[in-house]
Amino acid sequence: MADLNTITIDITKADHSKIGNVDFDNLSFGQVFTDHMFVCDFEDGTWQNPRITPYQSISLEPSAKIFHYGQSIFEGMKAYKDGNDNVFLFRPIDNFNRLNISAKRLAMPELPEAIFMDGLKELLKLEKDWIPNSEGSSLYIRPFMLASGEGFHASPADTYKFVIAFAPSGAYFSGKVKVLIEEKYSRSANGGVGFAKAGGNYAGQFYPTQLAKDKGYQQVIWTDDNSHEFIEEAGAMNIFVRINDTLLTVPTSDRILDGITRKSILTIAEAEGIQTEVRKIKVSELIEASENGSLKEIFGAGTAAVVSPISGFGFKGQDYDLPEIENTFGAHLKKRITDIQTNKSNDPFGWRIKVC
Ligand code: PLP
Ligand code: COI
Repeated sequence: MADLNTITIDITKADHSKIGNVDFDNLSFGQVFTDHMFVCDFEDGTWQNPRITPYQSISLEPSAKIFHYGQSIFEGMKAYKDGNDNVFLFRPIDNFNRLNISAKRLAMPELPEAIFMDGLKELLKLEKDWIPNSEGSSLYIRPFMLASGEGFHASPADTYKFVIAFAPSGAYFSGKVKVLIEEKYSRSANGGVGFAKAGGNYAGQFYPTQLAKDKGYQQVIWTDDNSHEFIEEAGAMNIFVRINDTLLTVPTSDRILDGITRKSILTIAEAEGIQTEVRKIKVSELIEASENGSLKEIFGAGTAAVVSPISGFGFKGQDYDLPEIENTFGAHLKKRITDIQTNKSNDPFGWRIKVC
């Protein structure tokens, strides 16, 4: 059994590196993977055997509960490199804490901090050369936990795997995003798992998102499941709205992911004297603001998406375009947060962690 405060990680290196095959100037999102991964098993009631192995398939029995009951959670993070090859993480403890919030809700075992942080740092040291430092690219980090335990009984598994895999990645969206405000389907409900990063939350979005894509939109903005009158968040981003010079975002809840980018953007905006409001936003308020010209911007915020401007939204068969304005809050806040992440500015909030 591993000592869960100071862990020893067994490292098996890959025979060859694949790095020479990668076109770092044309990276898409999450399609190529680095040479190694971190794995740790939960067996006999404890996390054990933390190891780094070559990146490879995971072999599971057909009766593994992940396949049947969807006990699966994940996190999304990035590593950044500055001009001097220093490697940084952004608020990693927040991801660690959120993983355990998700684990608890999905009746999965919580992970000790040392396994998450030491596993991540060791893997990063090994894969340092894979971190892109071109504008807009980064090393996307995907920590995840799955139920490997077997049996068709609909109950929590008795064994789990925690894995960290890396994917050098370019932008999640290319260009501005046009969104459909959902009026029929729901992503989550009170008392449900919307606040968790559970795999099933994303599976449930694919069908309505495909319907929206068929109509020419790239993403759905979810509304509350009860009335569909209030906006909540997008498929992979929290949403910000600028009305006149006030930056609005909705409060997190049972139904909404507590985004690390969202809270960072709010903190930066407040520190810079931008007026912010965290409150419910009615779709009818957006439409009214669009019609009277006070709706200046909408943007999404998330690790993968960073800050992604929205070009317009559809609702009940009608499209509403956002104005083309200069000096947007979105562009300014994106620069501020990425400058902190990539060590181009000072870090007054203490969010940046140097790994090596
Ligand atoms: N909302 C959802 C549903 C997400 O999947 C994400 C991405 O992680 C976010 C919001 C943004 O969260 P964060 O900024 O922590 O990446
Ligand atoms: C992230 O932003 O890291 C996410 O987890 C979103 C993901 C669905 C790509």
